[in-house]
Amino acid sequence: MLTQRPRGMHDILPQEASLWHEIEEAARRICARYGFSEVRTPILEHTELFQRGVGENTDIVEKEMYTFNDRGGRSMTLRPEGTAGAVRAYVEHKFYGGPQPIKWFYLGPMFRYERPQAGRQRQFHQFGVEVFGVADPAVDAEVIALGLDFLEDIGLEGLRLELNSVGCPQCRPMYRERLQAYYRPLREQLCEDCRDRLERNPLRLLDCKRETCKALAERAPRIEEALCEECRAHDEGVHRHLEAAGIAYEINPRLVRGLDYYTRTAFEVVEDGIGAQGTVLGGGRYNGLVEELGGPSVPGIGFAAGLERLILALEQRRGEGTSETGVDVFGIALGDEASVELTGWLRRLRALGCRAERGFEGKSLKAQLKAADRLGARWALILGEEERRRGVVMVKDLAGGEQRELPVLEVESWWKETEHGTGR
Ligand code: HAM
Repeated sequence: MLTQRPRGMHDILPQEASLWHEIEEAARRICARYGFSEVRTPILEHTELFQRGVGENTDIVEKEMYTFNDRGGRSMTLRPEGTAGAVRAYVEHKFYGGPQPIKWFYLGPMFRYERPQAGRQRQFHQFGVEVFGVADPAVDAEVIALGLDFLEDIGLEGLRLELNSVGCPQCRPMYRERLQAYYRPLREQLCEDCRDRLERNPLRLLDCKRETCKALAERAPRIEEALCEECRAHDEGVHRHLEAAGIAYEINPRLVRGLDYYTRTAFEVVEDGIGAQGTVLGGGRYNGLVEELGGPSVPGIGFAAGLERLILALEQRRGEGTSETGVDVFGIALGDEASVELTGWLRRLRALGCRAERGFEGKSLKAQLKAADRLGARWALILGEEERRRGVVMVKDLAGGEQRELPVLEVESWWKETEHGTGR
């Protein structure tokens, strides 16, 4: 136990870090383009926030939350998703009082006690965005466009965008009844989970992954036939904006999402190549959530993308991760005095932006050159005792092999010229 990480949780090791940085930087870059600012909310929230926000009848709240009492006896939960916390912050800090929309993004870990498999962890990371205060279908299209631009920026193109409307509190109850009327006579053919969902959350029957349930869902009444006038108009508006933006989509009438807060637009982006957990991004509109969580009636929409799934997809496309760290200069000292001197000028080189490493423990020249090579260093600066006495250092071009002597006092100006020369 002591040397084993918790099931479903992963260490992100240094060799993977550059890919994470790439993805996080792309998220920030695209958000800046669309005018979204970063919000960071606590990883721990009051349990009630998710019960009310995500919904009592969802798998997340029923089975997947990490919930415990803190030392003061309050029930706390590790956030299973980011929307509820963002809404809480929007309400708590009264952002509804100023000009709308409010456009936020976040990056960070989420926790769900799920059965781990490829693309599904118990601690995972999301990049998410939320827009508050505007009901216009143009916002739905902008949020979707942002998501797709982000995926394209990191190198994932040609993914499938699935779209649906899940209606609103006016039209959904009637649709629920129609679904129940369709499914009740088929109850015995349903899986155990679906039998359970039939009375409490019948929309979820539509996206059950079991073959028999899937076949029944094919013939179930479709929500688009049950939408009210406003929902239908909104939906058509979203389609028109998407088409104007050149965004291809597929209508999936069985796309219902696993969280209860959605109204109208629901969407997912699917990467078919990474197995059963291929949904890399999911989101939708939640026009009732701000009010449900104690704020005024304010519409909202957003999405979240699972970063581990993006990494899986990227690694598959690019081959295993590259872990280039980049070293400009490797300092080699031969002897104690030289080592001390090296400490001084390496610090000055680093202050100039030079990525500098060095050898330790008085290893031989050969061993240190090998270490420089292993790190892919561009230059070796070799300071032996004899050179030190003469006030010079040997500069070796590790790519070309040439070497020359340089007065120690000129090391910094050498670096400035070299850096300039390489255009870095
Ligand atoms: P979600 O569909 O539950 O939505 O999660 C969004 C994405 O997070 C999924 O598409 C998937 O890529 C990733 N994800 C979810 N669970 C796991 C897991 N156990 N392991 C790895 N990745 C996972 C939400 O969370 C909503 N808050 C999205 C949203 C924002 N809707 C409106 N605003």
